[in-house]
Amino acid sequence: MAKKTILDVQLKSKKVIMRVDFNVPMQNGEISDENRIVAALDSIKYILNQGGKLILLSHLGRVKTEEDKQNNSLAPVAKRLSQHLNLEVNFVPFTRGKEVEAAIESLEDGQVVMLENTRFEDVEGKKESNNDEALGKYWASLADIFVNDAFGTAHRAHASNVGISTYIDTSVAGFLLEREIKFIGDTIANPERPLVAVLGGAKVSDKINVIKKLLEVADYVIITGAMAYTFYLAQGYDVGLSKVEKDKVDLALELLELAQGKIILGTDVVTAKDFDPESERNVRSKSAIPSDEMGMDVGPETLKTYFKYIEQAKTIIWNGPLGVFEFPRFAEGTKGFAKKLVDLKDSVTTIIGGGDSAAAVIQFGYEKDFAHISTGGGASLEYLEGKVLPGIACVDDK
Ligand code: 3PG
Repeated sequence: MAKKTILDVQLKSKKVIMRVDFNVPMQNGEISDENRIVAALDSIKYILNQGGKLILLSHLGRVKTEEDKQNNSLAPVAKRLSQHLNLEVNFVPFTRGKEVEAAIESLEDGQVVMLENTRFEDVEGKKESNNDEALGKYWASLADIFVNDAFGTAHRAHASNVGISTYIDTSVAGFLLEREIKFIGDTIANPERPLVAVLGGAKVSDKINVIKKLLEVADYVIITGAMAYTFYLAQGYDVGLSKVEKDKVDLALELLELAQGKIILGTDVVTAKDFDPESERNVRSKSAIPSDEMGMDVGPETLKTYFKYIEQAKTIIWNGPLGVFEFPRFAEGTKGFAKKLVDLKDSVTTIIGGGDSAAAVIQFGYEKDFAHISTGGGASLEYLEGKVLPGIACVDDK
């Protein structure tokens, strides 16, 4: 069922409380990746241009103690947002109380306030994360309309998303949430075929349910990255020092059987003696991995095999890197694969799952070349698994 969006409601002179996901990585008090802020700008600008009085809520990090509060204030985020909007963002360093209410009362049409990190409410009694009723009611009481644009948090049922929507008459999606639903939800439900899913990353155990779901909906599932070595072990290959989950070998066998030829694995690998950026790089057949070496990247022959499948695809879902792309010497597979996707962009819709593959694409400077890069890590995985996400379910249907 399609969801109502900010296009479906009158915003002029309305108090609009919008949950965004500004849980951005910070280093020494500085924002090191502002992607999530940029991704929310369309909705923010639209609401302000329509004359809405905007109240922004977000979490940042995980806040358990008073000390955690020191490093998790949203003040730097408000400042950065202000620069993007070229407009004052009135930052209120509280999550409730007189200061919050006064700041909201003084809002003129087209102005914006941002409250402090919603998870400051977790220090006593985990009120935000446990979806405390009084807190959800309070935030709902501050506004006329609730907008959820926090896809990255849509797998959580917290007071600042599900809570508010329970106690307010109107809950709609922002443009970012709508895009995520369109690209991930609608693709899983009704893909343009052939659909090729490419799943990499460290652990099979993190992605069991995604693999199972994609085996149902995709035409091919390429298993790559560190995860592939557990499958190689299951096939009887000696994988040397490669990271594997021995207790998942039986599961890998089960999945291979279930897949009936849909799972595509590699034939060669790039190995090193140590998990070190300077370690020597060797290309090996997967049947000849020495016992003192570990897999760090896919080999050139494997990459060609992947290309053969993605060249035929109409839709590609990519979640998880092909190798240790953080080390330039072992980034060739992931980079070569990303570049190939860029070359194919006119003939195929590519959806990049959040987390590491999104980070890789951004690191290589390709972020503008994809139909959709998800802003969700955990949320995009759960959405790909076909789960109903509470942060989407709580938005009104059309
Ligand atoms: C994320 O970065 O995955 C989201 O912002 C959710 O954060 P959380 O895992 O701390 O709930």
